[in-house]
Amino acid sequence: MELSINNVSKSYKQNKALSGFTLSFSPGVYALLGPNGSGKSTLMNIITGNLKKDSGVITYNGKDISKMGMEYLSLLGYMPQYPGIYLQFTAEEYLYYIAALKGVKDPVEQITEVLREVELDDVRSMKTSTFSGGMKQRLALAQAVIGDPKILLLDEPTAGLDPKQRIAIRNYISRISFNKIVIIATHVVSDIEYIAKTAIFLKKGVITDCGAPSELAKKAAGDVWSIRCGADEVTAYQNRYKVINIQSDGADVNLRVLSYTKPTDNAKPEAPTLEDEYIRVFAN
Ligand SMILES: Nc1ncnc2c1ncn2[C@@H]1O[C@H](COP(=O)(O)OP(=O)(O)O)[C@@H](O)[C@H]1O
Ligand SMILES: [Mg+2]
Repeated sequence: MELSINNVSKSYKQNKALSGFTLSFSPGVYALLGPNGSGKSTLMNIITGNLKKDSGVITYNGKDISKMGMEYLSLLGYMPQYPGIYLQFTAEEYLYYIAALKGVKDPVEQITEVLREVELDDVRSMKTSTFSGGMKQRLALAQAVIGDPKILLLDEPTAGLDPKQRIAIRNYISRISFNKIVIIATHVVSDIEYIAKTAIFLKKGVITDCGAPSELAKKAAGDVWSIRCGADEVTAYQNRYKVINIQSDGADVNLRVLSYTKPTDNAKPEAPTLEDEYIRVFAN
């Protein structure tokens, strides 16, 4: 099972949203990481066929997806960044509707299980118009998963969720990713750091790095420091260094700082994380 993106580009008028994107996906979880405007949603919309690319070729198991028609569409599960949900439906009715659209033969068991996994089973008979943002987000994930798609595209799947729900969704995605190509677009590094086999850094429509999260994290080795200082010194450090985290214990402050050289005598070297590397690459 292989989804290959070959030299795909897309511009909106003069604005190049994606430039020569080239990567092959095999089963497993991929994180597409980059700040707002880096082209993540554009790539997802091209893979789903919702958006026309300007150039390049996408193949699935060697076949051009633009020539596969329904055979390709039936492989896809897609959670858009701004999901529109049919508000007159209950959660359950909505999922039956989606299952029918996807041609799922015997949906009862699947819908029951998915509702339980996204923690909406107790509100299955409620109108989605009464749902909170987080509940709508989880229903949008549920609809993407219905029909057991081989290619699952999730655009900012944890936006609007509280920390407990983020962890639940992260674990759920991890569990269902077996034998699927899962692509998660996000700017929240902690959502994917431990579940992605590959992280892709996308900067202004160009891949700047791609690899195992632990390997990418290592690139920030030697550049991450902790500094203990007084509250009145924080601004001075922020002016001189990229400050990743500020933690105050009331009296003093612990800073996590990026610096290519030892910033002060009392600075202690820290083990780098993917988030450190992400900030190193993307912060200006
Ligand atoms: N429909 C559109 N019309 C014009 N420009 C767009 C449109 N969608 C996205 N863009 C532009 O393309 C670039 C990439 O956007 P997008 O793919 O949404 O990035 P991301 O999902 O990483 O935030 C941005 O500069 C954005 O302003
Ligand atoms: Mg987006």
